[in-house]
Amino acid sequence: MNITYYGQSCFSVIVDGKHLLFDPFISENEMASHIDIHSIPADYILLSHAHADHTLDAVSIALRTGAKVICNFEMHDWFQDKGVTNTHPMNTGGSWQFEHFKVKCTVAQHSSSFGDGTYGGNPMGFIISTHDLSFYYSGDTSLTLDMQLIPNWAQISFAVLPIGDNFTMGVDDAILASQFVKTQKVVGVHYDTFGFIKIDHQQAKTQFANAGIELNLIQIGESIDL
Ligand code: NI
Ligand code: MN
Repeated sequence: MNITYYGQSCFSVIVDGKHLLFDPFISENEMASHIDIHSIPADYILLSHAHADHTLDAVSIALRTGAKVICNFEMHDWFQDKGVTNTHPMNTGGSWQFEHFKVKCTVAQHSSSFGDGTYGGNPMGFIISTHDLSFYYSGDTSLTLDMQLIPNWAQISFAVLPIGDNFTMGVDDAILASQFVKTQKVVGVHYDTFGFIKIDHQQAKTQFANAGIELNLIQIGESIDL
């Protein structure tokens, strides 16, 4: 599966030619200043929670592309108010078969509010299952024992996990999360963007490698195959 990283927790994957874009925060991310948000393709936009570092560019990209926005119910209401009418409301624990993939919403232990103060519902993670593989994006979360349930729902080929600490899991807990969900491949996100979450890349990779897990840190704007 081809995955492109756009900085912070924003990434996209291609499923049957459709672009699934997660948590777009680009236009105010100084580390992503070389990314042109007007050229990012999207058929679906999946939002883990309402915080601005996950949703800032969602309205503009949704209005430009007509992409379907998949998010929790309270966020769906907020997007409808902004004129984004192509939304699909979900909530924690629920799953839905879309045309090209299935989404299951998982528990995330975090908070969720929009930049304007509007309540943003429960934060969530997603298991995305396609015809050839499944992957897990945890969203912003602490390590939770609930992650041990995930192998009951899908065999995970890779996980996209926050590793920046302070606001979310750091490296040590992300390694435990990888073990809980039974994957040996991780894409690290939610690091380096702000002072509180700067990490030592080599040390992080070494810690994962010592646990038998491959940590992928993708350059912003680059794509890899997983
Ligand atoms: Ni957050
Ligand atoms: Mn965040």
